[in-house]
Amino acid sequence: MRLLTGVGKILTLMDPDNKRSMQAETLFAQIVSELKNSAVFFGHGVASAEEEALLLLSHVLTRNPDWINRNPQTPVDAEQAQRIRALLQRRLDQRVPMSYVTGTAWFAGLEFVADERALVPRSPFAELIGKGFQPWLGNDRPERVLDLCTGGGCIAIAMAKAFPAARVDAVDLSPEALSLAEINRDKHDLSDRLMLIQSDLFDAVTGRYDLIVSNPPYVSKDEYQQLPAEYRHEPGLGLVSDGQGLQIPLTILAQAADYLSEGGLLFLEVGHSDQALEAALPAVPLTWVLFEHGGSGVCVFSREELLNYRHEFNRV
Ligand SMILES: C[S@@+](CC[C@H](N)C(=O)[O-])C[C@H]1O[C@@H](n2cnc3c(N)ncnc32)[C@H](O)[C@@H]1O
Repeated sequence: MRLLTGVGKILTLMDPDNKRSMQAETLFAQIVSELKNSAVFFGHGVASAEEEALLLLSHVLTRNPDWINRNPQTPVDAEQAQRIRALLQRRLDQRVPMSYVTGTAWFAGLEFVADERALVPRSPFAELIGKGFQPWLGNDRPERVLDLCTGGGCIAIAMAKAFPAARVDAVDLSPEALSLAEINRDKHDLSDRLMLIQSDLFDAVTGRYDLIVSNPPYVSKDEYQQLPAEYRHEPGLGLVSDGQGLQIPLTILAQAADYLSEGGLLFLEVGHSDQALEAALPAVPLTWVLFEHGGSGVCVFSREELLNYRHEFNRV
């Protein structure tokens, strides 16, 4: 039996004085029930109450979520149950994203340290990386890769794993985000070929790349005010962009060609600002990546396209 396909009978809340051990599936059902009966928002890398419950159990029982899912009868002792209760309370009362509560996020099948220094990883780039950027890259193997706006480093690290011969540079403006990216880089033992660079977009970047990937801030100030409480725990620098959310994406579009090699590609995420980008660039044919596992708003450009339409990006 697996927890995510067979949620057991929902029991009343644990008695904190109860010293008996219980099984993971019992707690799983309780956590799911608590989450579903609350106002929390799901969407910070963990898409449902069931996935959040698994992440929480996995954190306290120090097993990966898939293992917990396959072993629902794993015993949970009273002290572990108590810790789970305290962490769940923080999630419910303060609307802290579960990945910050546990300090852990999963992205592209890899585990990352997550905290308030950077956004919770959740980009659809995970799927694209898992597919080796097919069909776009064909047989090409990028040798130099750039992750612009890297946050805690999840995209850069997943790309370094996907392209073991590549050198990867990861840029962010925020020293706090870069300090978290450094922790994740060391966790994944990539310090020999993953360089962290503090830079305002391309300002401190030199050389050319075969592949540039960017998940920059693209939320307008007005939209930011409307977001669920969970977003307040994330750094605003990672979310908000001026110009109705498009200023940073358009700057990247205007400058990226100068940092791409011949035949190089830029993948740019603008999420739900995809229609705003279409409206801002009526003369530019935008190519959107289709995702099988959810997510949208990633467009792809060749260096030639970026050069051809640079005047349009600069005009907006
Ligand atoms: C949407 S987050 C993406 C984080 C990470 N790549 C991910 O997918 O989870 C955007 C990141 O861009 C960074 N950022 C914002 N403005 C920037 C700028 N002008 N230059 C470089 N990085 C910037 C923020 O600090 C934040 O870490």
